[in-house]
Amino acid sequence: MNLIEWAQSPWGGQIPIHISWTLLWVFAAAGVLFLVAHAIYVGFFAKSGAVHSTGGAGVNVAQIPEHVARHSFGSRTFHAIMALSMLALLFTAFLPKVGVQFPWVTYHWIAGIVLTISVIYHIIHATFVLDFWSIWPDETDREDAVRRFRRALGQDAPEPRKFAKYPLENKLYHMIVMLAGLAAIGTGLFMMKRVRTPFFTRNPYVFSDMTWGWMYVLHGLAGVGFVALVTVHIYFAIRPEKFFITKSMIFGWITRENYIEHYDPLRWPPVAEDSASGSADSKKVSA
Ligand code: HEM
Repeated sequence: MNLIEWAQSPWGGQIPIHISWTLLWVFAAAGVLFLVAHAIYVGFFAKSGAVHSTGGAGVNVAQIPEHVARHSFGSRTFHAIMALSMLALLFTAFLPKVGVQFPWVTYHWIAGIVLTISVIYHIIHATFVLDFWSIWPDETDREDAVRRFRRALGQDAPEPRKFAKYPLENKLYHMIVMLAGLAAIGTGLFMMKRVRTPFFTRNPYVFSDMTWGWMYVLHGLAGVGFVALVTVHIYFAIRPEKFFITKSMIFGWITRENYIEHYDPLRWPPVAEDSASGSADSKKVSA
């Protein structure tokens, strides 16, 4: 199978024009396969209690607020705008590829601009207001991943600890989404030079055909990657045991019971939800 569609350049060489759209089906199938395999694994094979320790990590339950703040109003608004623009980008890009024809390009780049602005806001917000490091894997994540793996193989290993605000899987997912997102945005902004927009005169000659070709390939790869990534994300969001996290992306908080069950107060100190200001995300908390 040819993963890239090539064309003949006027000078006789081969230039890439974009990915082969068969990859759309490959990534869609990969997303669905992953969720079916995961659902079967959780339903029939996973051992309960294997995820992390069930101990209280020395926590005084009375000090944990009834509603523990998880996402501020700013974070929730960003998430909603980013998610809507992402769905708009996916539908406008891929409906024409599966036979639903409409003038998609204008809707597509408008959604692209909305995504770009929301991501710029997110980077500034996460750097200066939130706890920037809460989404990057740390030494404890690495140690616990090794412990979990050894226990899964039936070997002796200490119990993995409870989670910080984000488990390792979420941190790795965020990293992949970040890379795919930056690739799609970076290439998409340049590709706007190839189409008619009110911002500048169309000029397809700013890059060579070869450079444009690889840019379209990278944009397409990030695009089909998002088909699998978004499928998996929505699947986890609606899984019953994760639904309390999804609710926190709407209401901003999780219950004390959910907090005690899954999180380590030393790694993610609990802060009471303040519905008046909608504040208290995962801000830096001094020890
Ligand atoms: C992240 C989700 C995105 C997905 C899934 C996606 C997907 C696609 C796909 C599949 C194409 C067709 C490319 C081809 O024919 O080779 C395309 C074209 C295009 N995309 Fe995106 N894209 C995304 C983000 C963006 C962003 C953020 C922007 C702008 C800021 C953008 C701007 C464009 C433009 C201008 C074109 C048209 C190029 C042309 O027809 O010459 N895209 N996109």
